[in-house]
Amino acid sequence: MKYGLAFVGIGALATAGLGAFSYANAKPEAAAQYTASGALIFPKDYREWVFLTSGVNMTYGAPVTGMGHDMVDNVFVDPQSWQEFKQTGKWRDGTVMIKEPRMGANEGSISKGGTFQTEDVFGLEVHVKDSTRFKDEWAFFVHADGQPAEAIPGDAECYACHKANGAVDTTFVQFYPTAKPIAEKAGTFDASK
Ligand code: HEC
Repeated sequence: MKYGLAFVGIGALATAGLGAFSYANAKPEAAAQYTASGALIFPKDYREWVFLTSGVNMTYGAPVTGMGHDMVDNVFVDPQSWQEFKQTGKWRDGTVMIKEPRMGANEGSISKGGTFQTEDVFGLEVHVKDSTRFKDEWAFFVHADGQPAEAIPGDAECYACHKANGAVDTTFVQFYPTAKPIAEKAGTFDASK
């Protein structure tokens, strides 16, 4: 009987110890997952990530007219990278940022004016930082249909505009109201942009 109890006791300790060990060593899954050929797998949980901003009808060059509807974009970042950004004001390797462009609508249900968002998403835009994978550290992807997407080539407009105008490391932190003060404090914010 005594042996039996001791045995159960050690067994319980060993199990608890093992549990703690594996928990402490469990690495959160990387936000960016790739196919064997290097295409980015659609980040299906991005709506559970950290919300940075929504922009309504933003245009970056000549004003766009005649669209006939409003566009709303929502920007998200993966939670682990946000935790680190809060400490350092920098985007770590592995950062994944998403821009989700949505069709806006004005009238519906009790809404008679203003703009609300609808279920229609026009291709998910993704910005990933990984210096071990991309020679310029960051790469862009667009998921049109939920399928894996190849990186957009480096001579595309996306890279030129983000490099020239993004206030923190090619990202548009100047438009992300909770991220901006963190970067300003950390000295990583380019106020000329
Ligand atoms: C002329 C400038 C310009 C071009 C070209 C451009 N973007 Fe952006 N991008 C912006 C701005 C401004 C924002 C901030 C949006 C907001 O505040 O809602 C942004 C935000 C983003 C974000 C959110 C993360 C970040 O980096 O700040 C992603 C992802 C993104 N763009 C992807 C793309 C992709 C993919 C392309 C090319 C197909 C592209 N962009 C082309 C100006 C540009």
